[in-house]
Formats: sequence, structure tokens, C-alpha cells
Amino acid sequence: MPNPLEGRTVALGVSGSIACYRAPYLASKLVQHGARVDVVMTEAAAKFVTPLAFGSITHRPVVTDIFDPQTEMGIDHVAIAERSDVVVVAPATAHAMARIAHGLADDALTTTVLATRAPVVVCPAMDGHMYDNPATQENAATLRSRGITVAGPATGRLASGMYGPGRMLEPAEIIDHVRAVLGRDGDLAGRKVVATAGGTRELIDPVRFISNRSSGKMGHAAAEAARDRGASAVLVTASTTLPDPVGVSVVRVESAIDMRDAVMRECEDAEVLVMAAAVADWRPAEPSERKLKKGSAKTSSLELARTPDVVAGVRTKGLIKVGFAAETDDVERNARAKIQQKGLHFIAANDVTAAGSGFGADSNRVVLIDREGRAERLDMLSKYEVAHRILDKVLSYWDC
Ligand SMILES: Cc1cc2nc3c(=O)[nH]c(=O)nc-3n(C[C@H](O)[C@H](O)[C@H](O)COP(=O)(O)O)c2cc1C
Repeated sequence: MPNPLEGRTVALGVSGSIACYRAPYLASKLVQHGARVDVVMTEAAAKFVTPLAFGSITHRPVVTDIFDPQTEMGIDHVAIAERSDVVVVAPATAHAMARIAHGLADDALTTTVLATRAPVVVCPAMDGHMYDNPATQENAATLRSRGITVAGPATGRLASGMYGPGRMLEPAEIIDHVRAVLGRDGDLAGRKVVATAGGTRELIDPVRFISNRSSGKMGHAAAEAARDRGASAVLVTASTTLPDPVGVSVVRVESAIDMRDAVMRECEDAEVLVMAAAVADWRPAEPSERKLKKGSAKTSSLELARTPDVVAGVRTKGLIKVGFAAETDDVERNARAKIQQKGLHFIAANDVTAAGSGFGADSNRVVLIDREGRAERLDMLSKYEVAHRILDKVLSYWDC
């Protein structure tokens, strides 16, 4: 199940914030993810952006007036609420949040939110003082207490010129929230999945380190895929460039020793460990507390000590352990050796020199090899899809 939005029906409620200018883009992204999108606008929203913009993106009627007999809602006012798999209010004004919190049903948007049995995601967008106002804070708390996901707002520059909380989340982040909500009852619901990511940094001195080329994308994708199947996903990441994924509990680490400590702790009550991090094999034996001077010598050497083998050290009973082998040659033979050494259930082996695969890429071509030596060669897939195939295989261990 690589895409939780494929074939799903999303009611997109749009209220009258200046952030409306980003709502058609959000609608477009939802459509591109395979969703059927019904847009329901407030009267104020239609002053910022036209129904035409949404209709031409979604190829579906747009509701602005609940009493319009020409529209579906004018005949059946709860039709959209009932068929939706998720209701997303983006942007959500302070006014819309207040109306939802108080159970009002005075237009098409609030009627849809009140009538739906589907999960609701509300994405606030407003001036910082409006957001900070205790009335809005209480309304947001009320929404949360009723199981509504209040996604955002982000902190940043606001339309007023002020800097603070109130910006609507980026469409990609909103979509991540929607995916997480849609996947809540997925096949990993109730399971804890720990994924690791990124290349660890081993300090030489306070300004220099040894590391590797891992971007962290594969491990981040593993955590996101687990989240989208309902798992309680934890990401232990050494990546320095990727943002925290939405709906995932993130532990930031730097060195192999930090990674070992965090993984040991998180795996105590976990059911799955996907070890996609590139943990350094060696670290400087004695890192300097001060910046080392280059001096006049023509060559220099650095004494290295072995780092702990993180995955081999985790022995939680019943934990399914999945490793990764990033190889440049003899990919499958090297990967098979690691399965035994590290006590893995299976390993995802990839040739990091292959075009489109490996470090920094968004796609990966891997071979899944298990303890029994069975090999499943996957096509070139996005890292998110690879992560789903790995989780599919994890599930097969519980089926038998
Ligand atoms: C130019 C302009 C920008 C506005 N931007 C926001 C906003 O970002 N967030 C907000 O809560 N209200 C904003 N408002 C106020 C709302 O449009 C107003 O509260 C309206 O009644 C909201 O109606 P609705 O929630 O039914 O869409 C803005 C008003 C104007 C005139």
C-alpha cells in the first residue's frame, strides 16, 4: 500500500484566510496523489480565491452555498460529509475554528465537519495575535480533545509583516498529516517501529568529523511508511539536512555511540527495527578537545577505534530486525554475510553505485535477502515504496 491517498475521497474545506492563495496548490497535490477532492468554501474564502480555480484543478463541482439547489449539498446537505474518507480544513481561520469548536453548522463547511464520521484535520492560518488569543487557544484545545488533528500552524513571517505562529503549514506537510490520519487503522496499528537514518558523525576535534554520504532519505521514508500504516513510528536519525517527518517521534543523534544508546532505548518495547542508518565503523580513538593545528608536517595519521555494532547489539525478544547493506561490489554475497553477523531477519542490499539508486537519491533498487537465503529483487522504486515493500515482508513474519 504505497499511497494512502490513492482512490480516497477528501473534503477540502477552505475558509477566508489570506493563506487561501495556497489552497488550490494543496488541492492540486491531493489530486496528484490520487485523491478525489470535493472543495467546500466559505463565503469569505470565495473573496480570496474563486471556485473556478478549485473546480478546474479537481474537475469536480465546488460548493460555496449550502442552499444552492443546483449543487449536491443543496439537495443532500450531508452528502459530502458522509462519503469523505477525511475532511481537511485548510486554511482554517480563527472564525472557522471557533465555529467548529462550538458545533455550529451555519454554512457548507461547518455542516460538513459536524456531520462527518471521518477524521478531521484542521490547519490554522491567521495573524499571530489572533492565534495567541486565549479564545483561539481554547478552541484549538477543544478540537484536539475531540480527536481532531490540529496541524500547525508554522512559525514564520505572517501577512501582517509580524513574525510568529500563524502560518498555514506547507501543502506537503498537510498531506503528510492527511496520510498519517488515513493510515491510523492500518496493518501496523498498535505496533512500534523504530527506523534509523543518516550517516553518523565521529568527531576528530570540535570542528572536524569522519562521516559518510548517507542522506538519511531511506530511513526517513521507512519511518513515514510505518506511520502511514498506523504504526507508532520512531526515527533515530543522524541526518543533518532532512526535516522531522510529521507524525513521527524523532530522536536526533550524532555519533555511532549516540545512535546505539538511542536505538537500545527505543527498541526495548518495539516490534520492528529498520536499520537504514549508515553507522560509521570507525571513530577517532581519542578526539581532541581543541581544534588540531595543521603544523608543518607533510603527512599525518589518525588512530581509529571500532564503533559498536548497533543492530547486532539489540536483542529485544520478538523484535524483527531489518538491516541494510550499501555495497559497491559483490552486493548480494556481502549482504548475506551481514545477516548472520548481525542476527537480522532479512536485509535490503543495494548497489550504491547504480544510477538512480543509493545515497541522496529519491529512488532505490534493492534485493531483499532473508535468513533462508531467499532473494526478492525489487525494481527501481521510490524509497517510500521500498519502505512499504520492506514492511510488507515484516508482516509476513507475523502471518506465519
Ligand atoms: C485581507 C484579509 C485577510 C484575512 N486573513 C485572515 C487570516 O489569515 N486568518 C483569519 O483567521 N482571518 C483572516 N481574515 C478575517 C476573516 O476573513 C474573517 O474572520 C471571516 O469572517 C472568516 O470567515 P470564514 O471563517 O467563514 O471563512 C482576513 C480578512 C481580510 C479582509
